[in-house]
Amino acid sequence: MTTHRVSPSLIATLPGRYYTDPEIFRQEQRHLFESLWFCAVRSADLDAPGTFRTVQVGRESVVVVRNRSGELRAFLNVCRHRGARLCTEESGRIRRSLQCPYHAWTYDLDGKLIAAPNLTGMPDVDRVEYGLIGVALREWLGYAWVCLADEPPSFEETVTGAAVERLGDAAAIGHYGAENLALGKRISYDVRANWKLIVENFMECYHCATIHPELTDVLPEFADGYAAQYYVGHGAEFGEDIKGFTVDGSAGFGRLPQVTDDQDRRYYAITVKPTVFVNLVPDHVIVHRMFPLAEDRTVVECDWLYAPEVVASGADVSKSVELFHRVNTQDFEACERTQPAMGSRAYRRGGVLVPNEHHIGIFHEWIVERLGGGHAGPVH
Ligand code: FES
Ligand code: FE
Repeated sequence: MTTHRVSPSLIATLPGRYYTDPEIFRQEQRHLFESLWFCAVRSADLDAPGTFRTVQVGRESVVVVRNRSGELRAFLNVCRHRGARLCTEESGRIRRSLQCPYHAWTYDLDGKLIAAPNLTGMPDVDRVEYGLIGVALREWLGYAWVCLADEPPSFEETVTGAAVERLGDAAAIGHYGAENLALGKRISYDVRANWKLIVENFMECYHCATIHPELTDVLPEFADGYAAQYYVGHGAEFGEDIKGFTVDGSAGFGRLPQVTDDQDRRYYAITVKPTVFVNLVPDHVIVHRMFPLAEDRTVVECDWLYAPEVVASGADVSKSVELFHRVNTQDFEACERTQPAMGSRAYRRGGVLVPNEHHIGIFHEWIVERLGGGHAGPVH
């Protein structure tokens, strides 16, 4: 599909069924979430050997665990014997080894089969061959990214490249030192909307003037509806009287040590397709991870990250948390208001994108291309 112009200044969105059809969602699970790098877990959440978290990646459950040497490992959450789900809890700590609750096959934290009842009578069972199925894992920004593909795409091209594309400089995101920051607050939002509505909303600022009064107070250039953050390397500047990225514009915390003068008093937003948004401000970093669970349901986990000494001191982070929590609530309400209408005959051919939303058309082209084309059908 090439972007379809419906008038000289408008282009068509995806048709409504892209947001409601379980079959299209299944294709997205296969060709996006199970094929690309997926941001699964904050590394520091798994702070000791044996700590684990299970996450839904496309149609698969994946368990990410810290092994005895302190490294992260990811496995399909499936016992090799007869397929029982191994970890049924969302998170926890495995004492010594991972034992299947069905017939007690037991795996070490590197996935090797180490014991099974009566296995001694089967000396020829290869314990590595019958170990857990490993999943590729990389760490970036302090998060574990996993990929289910047999041959994962280049991490640099598909993940870290997004930061370069937006900031124009490979080193720029490193100045925030996200991997060394501490978690000040996490809020999980259960959003009754298709994941693409959430991405599209995050990509445009046409709605900012209408639904984000607190954000536009802090970032006045958002009030004109132009997505200033989409010009490469150009962050949105704080308003003159604004002291910090907080709900009332009051001072935040000291700027992170390597943030440059150019980055000071500015807000940058990065979308790492398909499911991650990163916001950078001088004294903290906000990371959104989406977990698309169904065509009309997406869990979004949002982390507010600060300098470790800020969190350790017990400082009150609520004013900066409140700003983006309100933005999230306003955005997700808008997405939930849109979702039911995706099935309306009024939206059979989709809607339109005004000029400052045209980059959303590029996102739509990317989706259709990843799904193998041909799903969008005629717009007329
Ligand atoms: Fe896991 Fe049998 S299914 S031990
Ligand atoms: Fe918004």
